[in-house]
Amino acid sequence: MPLNYRNSYEPDQAGDLRKIMVEKDRNRTPPKLHTLSVLSGKGGVGKSNISAALSFALADFGKRVVLIDADLGMANLDILCGVRSAKWNISHLIDGARSLPEVLVHFRVSGRAEREGGSVALLPGGAGLKEIADMDENELGHLFASLSGLDETADYVIMDAGAGIHKGALSFAYASEATLLITTPEPTSIRDAYGVIKSLGAAAWGGAGGGAGLMLVVNMVTSSKEAADVAERIRLASMQFLGNAPMYLGYVLKDDTIIRSVRNCRIFYRTAPDSNAGICVRNLAGEILRICEGANIEREELPENSAGMGGFLRRLANSIFAEEKK
Ligand SMILES: Nc1ncnc2c1ncn2[C@@H]1O[C@H](COP(=O)(O)OP(=O)(O)O)[C@@H](O)[C@H]1O
Ligand SMILES: [Mg+2]
Repeated sequence: MPLNYRNSYEPDQAGDLRKIMVEKDRNRTPPKLHTLSVLSGKGGVGKSNISAALSFALADFGKRVVLIDADLGMANLDILCGVRSAKWNISHLIDGARSLPEVLVHFRVSGRAEREGGSVALLPGGAGLKEIADMDENELGHLFASLSGLDETADYVIMDAGAGIHKGALSFAYASEATLLITTPEPTSIRDAYGVIKSLGAAAWGGAGGGAGLMLVVNMVTSSKEAADVAERIRLASMQFLGNAPMYLGYVLKDDTIIRSVRNCRIFYRTAPDSNAGICVRNLAGEILRICEGANIEREELPENSAGMGGFLRRLANSIFAEEKK
């Protein structure tokens, strides 16, 4: 029988929200669920694309993933994922009108994810919602009661938390086991990423419940070297001025596959899992599994620097050899 999460919490108990959460924790064996939030300093750096692609990449490793559109000001994961008919969204959980199973949108997975038993479901966001920090206890009570049911049904919750200028985005980072801070090589993005590290303060160095805390992901790079340089610049500034630095998790290459997929309202990882960006995201997923669960997953090699003449010649050579093999 499907659980009705809505009934597990009554609005008149709102005053004792914390007590309920403590009670819930006491009555269960430690959950296996891992909480990851994805945020950035500046908008438009690839948070939503990486959150969605990472969800499908983790499903390829057999994980049951729930992707939450927690960018409460600029929710757009439903469009990005090609979900056209979502009747309900996070706002219906917040006002208590719907239960989590009614609101979740389940994606069909195939190939490796299907074989491995992985799954992905989206909790769509609503337009123009108030920030989590501005919600009243009733609203938070409804939301928390709905989400607490995920312990039994998911292995990973990935929250697309939005840009760090919103209070809400930082709240998600404080509460998560690990936070992916996305930046691009643009100086404005680097500066704003540093701003997020500074705003998070001590919380940047360790995640909730002894988790990994803040980790850097450099998106839209032309090579692994460029990404490592960007991460090193941020880490050095952070070390120098804040006395500590977030670890560097990995990178995603600039890839036209993403631009084309966004235009077609498709998640690039679903259409092109073996594109350069797809391999990068799978490597990120492997790193996350290593950090969160101690898994030992081999990194996939990428053709370095697919841009420019080098990339052109490599592709040319590949296609000539492919012709020869036929
Ligand atoms: N690795 C990449 N390569 C090429 N374009 C990218 C890449 N990542 C993101 N983009 C582009 O950046 C745009 C913004 O990405 P999005 O995930 O919506 O950012 P955010 O959620 O941070 O605002 C996308 O529409 C896409 O065109
Ligand atoms: Mg976004």
